[in-house]
Amino acid sequence: NNIAESKCPAQASLNVAGGGTRIHDWWPESVKLNILRQNTSVTNPLGEDFDYAAAFKTLDYEGLKRDLSALMTNSQDLWPADFGHYGGLFIRMAWHSAGTYRVTDGRGGGGHAQQRFAPLNSWPDNVSLDKARRLLWPIKQKYGNKISWADLLILTGNVALESMGFKTFGFAGGRIDDWEADESVYWGGENTWLGNEVRYHNEKDPHKRDLESPLAAAHMGLIYVNPEGPDGNPDPVAAARDIRTTFGRMAMNDEETVALIAGGHSFGKTHGAGPATHVGKEPHGANIEQQGLGWASTYETGKGPHTITSGLEVTWTKTPTKWSNNYFEYLFKYEWELTKSPAGANQWVAKTDDLIIPDAYDSNKFHKPKMLTTDLSLRFDPEYEKISRRFLENPDQFADAFARAWFKLTHRDMGPKCLYIGPEIPKEDLLWQDPIPPVNHALIDDKEVAAIKKEILNLGIDVSQLVSTAWASASTFRSSDKRGGANGARVRLTPQKDWEVNNPAQLSRVLAALEDLQKRLNQSGKTVSLADLIVLAGVAGVEKAARDGGVDINVPFTPGRGDATQEQTDVESGKHLEPVADGFRNHGKSYGAVKQEHLLVDRANLLNLSAPELTVLIGGMRALNTNYDGSAHGVFTSRPGVLTNDFFVNLLDINTEWKQTGEDVFEGFDRKTGARKWSATRNDLIFGHHPELRAVAEVYGSADGTQKFVKDFVAAWDKVMNLDRFDIQKTGNKK
Ligand code: HEM
Repeated sequence: NNIAESKCPAQASLNVAGGGTRIHDWWPESVKLNILRQNTSVTNPLGEDFDYAAAFKTLDYEGLKRDLSALMTNSQDLWPADFGHYGGLFIRMAWHSAGTYRVTDGRGGGGHAQQRFAPLNSWPDNVSLDKARRLLWPIKQKYGNKISWADLLILTGNVALESMGFKTFGFAGGRIDDWEADESVYWGGENTWLGNEVRYHNEKDPHKRDLESPLAAAHMGLIYVNPEGPDGNPDPVAAARDIRTTFGRMAMNDEETVALIAGGHSFGKTHGAGPATHVGKEPHGANIEQQGLGWASTYETGKGPHTITSGLEVTWTKTPTKWSNNYFEYLFKYEWELTKSPAGANQWVAKTDDLIIPDAYDSNKFHKPKMLTTDLSLRFDPEYEKISRRFLENPDQFADAFARAWFKLTHRDMGPKCLYIGPEIPKEDLLWQDPIPPVNHALIDDKEVAAIKKEILNLGIDVSQLVSTAWASASTFRSSDKRGGANGARVRLTPQKDWEVNNPAQLSRVLAALEDLQKRLNQSGKTVSLADLIVLAGVAGVEKAARDGGVDINVPFTPGRGDATQEQTDVESGKHLEPVADGFRNHGKSYGAVKQEHLLVDRANLLNLSAPELTVLIGGMRALNTNYDGSAHGVFTSRPGVLTNDFFVNLLDINTEWKQTGEDVFEGFDRKTGARKWSATRNDLIFGHHPELRAVAEVYGSADGTQKFVKDFVAAWDKVMNLDRFDIQKTGNKK
């Protein structure tokens, strides 16, 4: 007798647990602040005090690797191993974990085990990887928190390679697990799996294949490109164009791209035993009794020889569980004929009678060599072909290139080398790690810091410029791949020194003065890096601005930054650190549906800022007059350069009426007299418009908010200046 059911017939809408039509269903264009409160201690069961690096130190690393190695050939009923070896499956799992990374915004990647959460756990490209992760559970269970899922997924890929005879370049641990999906990542605007109409939409030229930034995949739900060719068209040359764009977005050049694809496909097989209609729902949509697994298949046994994953049915080499040069050998030895997999997908078969490819389950059965359209790209694209032929003739060069590219792929988003932990860290410094020379001089003490601050203030540079310069240096940091930041003083190098947002003319003047001071200090026997001096200039500026506003406050400063050289700077991939917009300096324009406030909140997410921190920083920086072009937008004060809460007081003033006067530009008039009082952008007015931001702005704009404003501004400022100081944070614990 189900009373609830009898009283309440089919409930059409979820009327509990946060269901129902929500704010963003009503107003989809309104800026979402939820990305500023992700992965807080509230979602993390390990608690704030958990120190992963310390836990990892107690891990029986060799024991773990032995267990992983044993698992490779220990076929389980859950998901039998092809050729009696899980190597191919686990390499694909690690590759798909890392391969979502894009250098454009540094998001994606294997750094936080996002593959465990939707949408990635349910992407059509990740079919069967639910089983791969589940096979690892007994090992994860055994070692507990001493190994994060994120580290385990990548390490398993390495062990897979090693157990099949490949010598890897090394492994570093240090990836911190997330406990919820990262909602800040734009995966595309399409609402069907494998759709790509939004990312390739081009109003001016519908035939132009211009992949929308920051995406690095050709379809919604794929890691990179369609294996059958662009939109299923089996054209290896056209496929090469998509591969170049998408792998390029991962900061991989042609050689790295060829090495990765060929290296990966030297192992394992693809799965398309039957039509995809047999395959059930993806994990996030599947029934509860499936316990997080998905894609249950009704095709015969649904696994082993009957597996349907991609719907393609290819085994590339005659030794799919052993490293070899066979992939290139066959690629060039045979001519290729278009055919269909049993599931009906486009793939290629060698024009030969050679039956040299083993069957995954029947030792008496052999097949012809086969390839995917995207494999043939490595032969039929003229640039890829040159590299492929070189690798064909020089297997050692291929092995070295694959080892290095695999290491880069899987470690790209971990940040500087000082965050690497474990016994297998490669000694060699790599350019993509953004190396900074170690600091081996004595650091300045508090007394010297105080004296240098005085000297800085005597340089004749105003507070706005000191503060802008420090911000320019530190705010390149992005929490996504932990690149950028004040350490290294790369703001003085190409490409950063020439960015529009940095106001190059002003920046070079301030830097010249600071470099001059640095020289004088060094001559007097005090070694200070320019990176430290730039941050200290901001500290001196903020302290003076607070003093001028009547508040004596000490802005914390920790020396210890180093100066990188131009040679240590990856100019090509460093270009991606340039912000599309930096609302903190009132830089950047709205475009299409994207408004300045969306760009501002996106930036705040990369800087790990909360909504209150974002708010207080904007208020303070406007008062300090730090707009990149010196404009007066948002500088709602008669005392620019003084650290006051005037921005909030004047923004919230009920006697001001705002009118739009240009794209992103507004003017505020006195309601009574009609006199023009202020100008502003959306970056400024959003703090009066968005109810949550307005609520915070009211705190800082109140009569009792002055002291709190200065205190909170200094705390948020200090946070930004030290975002990349992993040396003084609890190592290995910072996202
Ligand atoms: C399997 C496509 C790059 C490693 C597959 C499968 C497809 C595919 C369709 C079959 C999945 C299945 O049905 O089980 C592509 C495309 C690529 C690419 C289009 C880029 C153009 C890579 C890279 C790696 C890699 C860079 C690693 C470095 C593997 C491995 C397998 C595989 C090891 C075999 C999985 C198994 O044995 O279960 N790939 N792949 N692939 N891929 Fe790739």
